[in-house]
Amino acid sequence: MMLRQSALLTLMLSVAFVSGAQGQTPNSDLVVAGRSFAQRVCGACHVVTPQSKALPLLSPPGPSFAALAQRPLLTEQALREFLASNHGTMGPHEAMPNPRLVDYQIDEIVAFMMSLKVGK
Ligand code: HEC
Repeated sequence: MMLRQSALLTLMLSVAFVSGAQGQTPNSDLVVAGRSFAQRVCGACHVVTPQSKALPLLSPPGPSFAALAQRPLLTEQALREFLASNHGTMGPHEAMPNPRLVDYQIDEIVAFMMSLKVGK
């Protein structure tokens, strides 16, 4: 009985791990959803994809997502914490508002931004 339970737990944990953002391929549903969500929500201030034709409407603009993704400090964990926290006072003149995202939106954005890391 105990053995069975722990085998089940191991199985559940490994499924959870594989379905995390790390396991996403560039065109997985989560990445695609994150790209389109980011274009709508973050695109007012950030260049979200290198193919973006329009420049951000609001100023000061934030760094492009391509540039942000290359920062070694921008890990999945750090990005999750940043997006989930109250960082409304960030940057000059409180430039970046707290995006107030819910969990599934954070999952999408994280998967998308991690897919921008070169060499992934
Ligand atoms: C109203 C404009 C605005 C919007 C909307 C916005 N950002 Fe930003 N963001 C900025 C600015 C400006 C900076 C740079 C702040 C600074 O200079 O310190 C920034 C910085 C960042 C950073 C870098 C944080 C760091 O540690 O340096 C990340 C990551 C980021 N934004 C992600 C996002 C995501 C994801 C969204 C959409 C959910 C988003 N931003 C929406 C303006 C915005």
